[in-house]
Amino acid sequence: MKALILAAGKGTRLFPATKSTPKPLMPLAGKATLNYIIDEILKSGISNIGIVVSKDNYDQIFKFIKDNYSDIEINLIVQNKQLGVAHAVKISKEYIKNDDFILYLGDNLFENGIINLVKKFSKSKNNIISLKSVEDPRRFGVAEIDDKGILVRITEKPKVPKSNFAVTGIYAFKNIVFEFIDKISISERGEYEITDAIKLLIKFNNVESIINNGWWIDTGSHNDYLLANKFMIIESNNKNLSTNKDFFCYRNTKLIDSEIIKYSSIGKDVVIENSKIENCVILDQSKIKNYHLINCILSKNTTLINDNIHIKILENKII
Ligand code: DAU
Repeated sequence: MKALILAAGKGTRLFPATKSTPKPLMPLAGKATLNYIIDEILKSGISNIGIVVSKDNYDQIFKFIKDNYSDIEINLIVQNKQLGVAHAVKISKEYIKNDDFILYLGDNLFENGIINLVKKFSKSKNNIISLKSVEDPRRFGVAEIDDKGILVRITEKPKVPKSNFAVTGIYAFKNIVFEFIDKISISERGEYEITDAIKLLIKFNNVESIINNGWWIDTGSHNDYLLANKFMIIESNNKNLSTNKDFFCYRNTKLIDSEIIKYSSIGKDVVIENSKIENCVILDQSKIKNYHLINCILSKNTTLINDNIHIKILENKII
């Protein structure tokens, strides 16, 4: 079994931070988002991993893999145009060959990783999708299932959802899915939707579901990204009780008369003077003076110097 991670998105909702740091490499508690995903895949026992990247983020992701996973076989597949999740899978056929695979959307994080999905899939003849009951599923794929958990209908981002089951960003596919991907056409929003391929798959044989009971975050938006950072800080505290802190920073962070409070992450070589940092992610090499930042994301190498003696408050900004 292989795993395919999709990481070719532009990350527009986190602009301008994602202009210098591709979204899959955006840090959460000091580790790249992609780090968490690859580690979860390895933990599930899969060691043959493909990552779909874009022309723009190829170099940075290549370097990240070389620096962090040089002992593992990871294949990068370049998607020249972001024409949809199903398109990204289609262009990966040469890498997947005749294997079955786990599809992992590269902006999704799960409290319980993919172990349960992989276990269920290893014993099943069917394709499996992972669902999570959410209050408002309108921005997701929405699934209707029968009392045995078999998928009856799936709709991409419906205005009036028929159930509360959002389709999360992990799928277990038998190789046959490629035949159905070949049959779909472009959707109204201009993408080849994986949901459309699954609709065809349902007619062919059963698509099972697995219900996710832990937290799940699609990290694409400002608030959800900060929430993912908070969860990762809490999680690393749970693993490492001796350094229990409600923020993350590198040893070389220079803090002068400043305070970092929940749930912030500070990158490498950052200088913070006479400031308060609250629930923010500050990327490497940034400099901050005389600011109170709340719920902000600062791109790599940002200089935020306020020479006025009054502290300036900035809230909910990506800079
Ligand atoms: O997050 C779960 C949702 O993901 C599901 O509920 C939906 O059914 C599914 O279609 C998908 O919807 P999104 O609109 O959230 O997908 P998004 O465009 O954000 O792409 C998901 C990931 O795939 C993201 O990490 C970028 C990557 N991607 C996306 C496209 C369109 C690619 O690598 N290539 C692409 O062409």
